[in-house]
Amino acid sequence: MRTLITYDTVYGSTAQVAAWIGERLEGFNDMEDVTVTRIGEDFDLSAYDMVIIGSPIYRNDQILESVTAFVTKNKDVLAEKKVGIFVVALDIGGAYYFGRFTGGLEYLKEFAALFAKPPIYGKVLGGEQIPTRLSAEDRESLLNFYRRVMGSDEIPYRYSMDKPKVWEYAARFYKYANR
Ligand SMILES: Cc1cc2nc3c(=O)[nH]c(=O)nc-3n(C[C@H](O)[C@H](O)[C@H](O)COP(=O)(O)O)c2cc1C
Repeated sequence: MRTLITYDTVYGSTAQVAAWIGERLEGFNDMEDVTVTRIGEDFDLSAYDMVIIGSPIYRNDQILESVTAFVTKNKDVLAEKKVGIFVVALDIGGAYYFGRFTGGLEYLKEFAALFAKPPIYGKVLGGEQIPTRLSAEDRESLLNFYRRVMGSDEIPYRYSMDKPKVWEYAARFYKYANR
């Protein structure tokens, strides 16, 4: 089995999650090749049997545009593969907020809907937020969010990355892909 794990990232946590997925998949005996690479790098999608695609959640509860564009462009090729998806976010569980469902599985819905053939397995995995590393634009956007939703003037440091959960995601994807 040849597997590609491809993702985009802004601050690096999705790259870390993708690397952990790759690490776990390499543990299976029938893996000939596990490649972890960023969207936009040079790779031959048609060479892989299984493809896992990941994105962080950004403004307006969206995955990155580069990821949407990649899936849309490769829709036909992806329909012939066993595909898994994941998003990296802080609101893993989701909530109901003033008449609207937000976060959690809501993040996966639009992503999954991009595919001609539905992906096998998808999950929301925890990310990281480092206030001191944010671009001015991102800081402004998050400050607005924390003011509006939390009534706070500070962007907190948040860490919800969880390697055992990521490994579990990878192992389940492998199991479902080999059914
Ligand atoms: C401008 C901005 C908006 C974000 N919006 C959301 C959001 O709507 N929901 C959420 O759960 N996380 C949100 N996050 C948190 C990111 O999803 C999280 O920090 C993720 O780990 C970032 O991934 P990266 O390090 O791969 O870029 C936001 C982060 C930034 C900077």
